[in-house]
Amino acid sequence: MPKPAIVILTGAGISAESGLSTFRSSNGLWNNHPVEDVATIEAFERNPEYVHDFYNELKPELNRAKPNAAHLAITRLQNEYPGEVHIITQNVDTLHEKAGSQNICHIHGQINQAVCLNCGQVLETFGDVNTETVCPHCQIQGMMKPNIVFFGENLLCMDKVDELLKNCGLFLSIGTSGVVFPAADFVRIAKICGAKTYEFNLEETSNNWYFDKHIYGKAGTTVPAFVDELLKEPSDNF
Ligand code: APR
Repeated sequence: MPKPAIVILTGAGISAESGLSTFRSSNGLWNNHPVEDVATIEAFERNPEYVHDFYNELKPELNRAKPNAAHLAITRLQNEYPGEVHIITQNVDTLHEKAGSQNICHIHGQINQAVCLNCGQVLETFGDVNTETVCPHCQIQGMMKPNIVFFGENLLCMDKVDELLKNCGLFLSIGTSGVVFPAADFVRIAKICGAKTYEFNLEETSNNWYFDKHIYGKAGTTVPAFVDELLKEPSDNF
């Protein structure tokens, strides 16, 4: 009899120990590059070159990063837990993939993808993308956009996410400040649908009353320890 499904929401904090910046810490990404300059549709329409440059400069650092113990522990959980384990990540890095994880929903997009605004094709783009880039699918030039979900745009994979949240027995939130919606509302949905909800963070976040348990500390330490315990005796009600 399979155990209840586990859904794991990750944020920038899970990648911090891989050397990647988070967004809202003192030296966070948004402190040095205001959201309204690089992460809104208006910014992209106003100055596409500047927005392309931002993500082109970010790409090599994200692609050099290596998964840390937290990413690897989640892969171990997926391989050894006698039930389904799904990842919903807000991160545009591919550290979950590099750790060997599967069943990953990138709700905010991915750094190595671009979407053609003419034909809608999503393309793998490990090199730079800019206003000169020609879409290899429809051959139109200058209509490529980083496949990053800007503020005000719809999230990706939301049908799948909705189904996962409503059918999980355990919801883990790892390394997210819980201030950006709709991802910040996932814990509430999971909880009202009957899941146990645990939060892994360095500190209390704004969503704290929706969590049944808070596990404070660095994800690279707390997540492997939690996975060890869970795999020792997988429970039906956590
Ligand atoms: N272990 C656990 N948690 C950590 C660690 C760590 N080593 N380092 C940082 N954190 C926590 C911080 O305490 C913070 O709560 O990770 C969280 C990071 O918060 P944010 O910087 O706000 O990042 P995130 O929650 O992923 O942002 C969500 O906002 O701007 C958008 O698209 C962007 O996906 C991003 C979304």
